[in-house]
Amino acid sequence: MNRVRFIVTLQYRLLALIVTAPMCLMAQTDTAAGAKIFATNCSGCHGSDGRGGERAPNIATSRNITSLSDKDLSNIIRTGVTGSGMPSFSFFEDNGIANVVAYLRVLQGKTSNSAITGNPAAGRELFFGYAECSNCHMVHGEGGYIASDLTDFASGISPENFRKAIIQAPEVVPAGSQRVDIVTATGHPISGVLRSEDNFDIVILTRDGRFNRYAKSTLRKLSYTGQSLMPTDYKTRLSPNQIDDIIGYLMLSASSIEPVNRRQKRRPE
Ligand code: HEC
Ligand code: HEC
Repeated sequence: MNRVRFIVTLQYRLLALIVTAPMCLMAQTDTAAGAKIFATNCSGCHGSDGRGGERAPNIATSRNITSLSDKDLSNIIRTGVTGSGMPSFSFFEDNGIANVVAYLRVLQGKTSNSAITGNPAAGRELFFGYAECSNCHMVHGEGGYIASDLTDFASGISPENFRKAIIQAPEVVPAGSQRVDIVTATGHPISGVLRSEDNFDIVILTRDGRFNRYAKSTLRKLSYTGQSLMPTDYKTRLSPNQIDDIIGYLMLSASSIEPVNRRQKRRPE
């Protein structure tokens, strides 16, 4: 009797071992669990797609973050960033941190490996011509000042996320890129990016790269658009092939940079 029971338990034990061992090897992180953690703990500040909001920066497509190792990311999440709004999540279990890092990699597109087939030469022409990207963005010292330099934007971002950044406006307009339209005291209409303001003054970055300060009381018109200056109609203005060409151009551009220069920010281990 006893012996039978022993053998039965042993069989269950073995069965459990056979079932769980490969699971431990294969699925060390759980991106679905990570997605839940992200939605409850991170998206309020970083946006549900991780591309930033009013309270926290872009951690999905920003190169400074995508280039960090899993270990660096875990450390940041565990300890937070002292003196900033980034809290410590030391109360997560280790799995929780690993899972949220795994989900962050999904948002960053690191888990996909689709290649881009665009034609860089055609992309360059579009960038500086028809698509007008260079009115606002710079690549290798050529182009506009009002938006970010895209020279090495392509490093560390998947083509899908890159495409998203071009055709789909972020859910929350990041601080420092809202478009405002004003009419000056002399009747001059100006559009630019709202950089800062207080009760009296407003500072607007204009396309020439200048920061212009105006006393609000002198303006004839001041309207906050609540929208980014980044055009939202590229999905219809450009064909999928044209977008691939532009991405191809920017990927080539990023690959021609010394890797040493890519990471300026150093982080303690
Ligand atoms: C209360 C708002 C808030 C919440 C909630 C929050 N963050 Fe942050 N996070 C910030 C801010 C602000 C920064 C910018 C810190 C700085 O100035 O370097 C930041 C920065 C980061 C960075 C980059 C750090 C760096 O050195 O640039 C990562 C990665 C990050 N957060 C991940 C997360 C994750 C993952 C969660 C959820 C578990 C989370 N954050 C929740 C506000 C928040
Ligand atoms: C009228 C100005 C303007 C034009 C034209 C424009 N952009 Fe933008 N773009 C912006 C602004 C403003 C942002 C948001 C803040 C920033 O990155 O400076 C932005 C953001 C982006 C981002 C995300 C950057 C990041 O760090 O997350 C990418 C990628 C981008 N633009 C690519 C393009 C491409 C490609 C074109 C041409 C097809 C283009 N933009 C045309 C103004 C512009």
